[in-house]
Amino acid sequence: MIRAIFNRKGGVGKSTICCNLAAVAATQGKKALVIDLDQQSNSSSYLGHDGEDNVVGTAEFFDSTINFSYADFQPDDFVRKTAFENLFVVTASRSLIDLESKLASRHKIYKLREFLQKLSDIYDEIYIDTPPVMNFYSLSALIACERCLIPFDCDIFSRDALFELLKNIQEVKEDHNRDLLIEGIVINQFSAQARLPGEAVDELLKEQLPILQPYISSSVKIRESHRAAQPLVFMLPRHKISQQFADLYQNLNTPAAEVAAKSLETLSAI
Ligand SMILES: Nc1ncnc2c1ncn2[C@@H]1O[C@H](COP(=O)(O)OP(=O)(O)O)[C@@H](O)[C@H]1O
Ligand SMILES: [Mg+2]
Repeated sequence: MIRAIFNRKGGVGKSTICCNLAAVAATQGKKALVIDLDQQSNSSSYLGHDGEDNVVGTAEFFDSTINFSYADFQPDDFVRKTAFENLFVVTASRSLIDLESKLASRHKIYKLREFLQKLSDIYDEIYIDTPPVMNFYSLSALIACERCLIPFDCDIFSRDALFELLKNIQEVKEDHNRDLLIEGIVINQFSAQARLPGEAVDELLKEQLPILQPYISSSVKIRESHRAAQPLVFMLPRHKISQQFADLYQNLNTPAAEVAAKSLETLSAI
């Protein structure tokens, strides 16, 4: 299964959700791979790979598609181990910035899809972290994935942006990736005590948007886990949020989730 975690808004929890869901998969014995497409490389650092030079990652993969050295590599050459069993990463770097216009002008938009299809012979689950913008890399991710998760940060002003985003994803589906399913919206940094998050989520529920369960709470432990370069699921496996990630992961992989994702097809046609 190949999933992209995408929202054009920054700071909504894309990297956090991407790495922790991959971590849950890894703890359950699945060979899990994170693909970091964000030049800020937060997922790479969250998984313990920070600021290293002379390493291959997503930028080098894309570069190889331009200079035709792709044939010199096996897909697994771009993958790096992490300190965690069963969890692997293709790291991002700032070189992605310089490459973007070249890749777009040379129509390399399907290359990630080819790459991940090969890697899915080796890895059970692939989670793609995306930049907070609809650009070459996020479009590549939406074309390469089977499912898309949309993190939502309980900001009432994000509602319109969310509808716009659903339309964008629908367009990518129609134009490039017929099999793409929007799996649902992951509510992040939810606080049952505060009024606004509840109202923001109620709005979405009223619109019959596919809100996934459970909601992910807010905790300083998430920030601490980023600082420690250990997904919370590994750092504090018994923490409430680790349990929420485990439950979310479980809910994604049920037949009911499949039905819900399919029913969205009509909805996102708005
Ligand atoms: N559930 C949460 N509780 C507390 N802080 C969180 C939570 N989710 C994310 N954060 C923090 O919010 C910031 C943005 O999260 P991140 O996953 O990097 O978002 P994005 O990838 O969408 O930019 C990070 O500093 C992270 O530690
Ligand atoms: Mg991020």
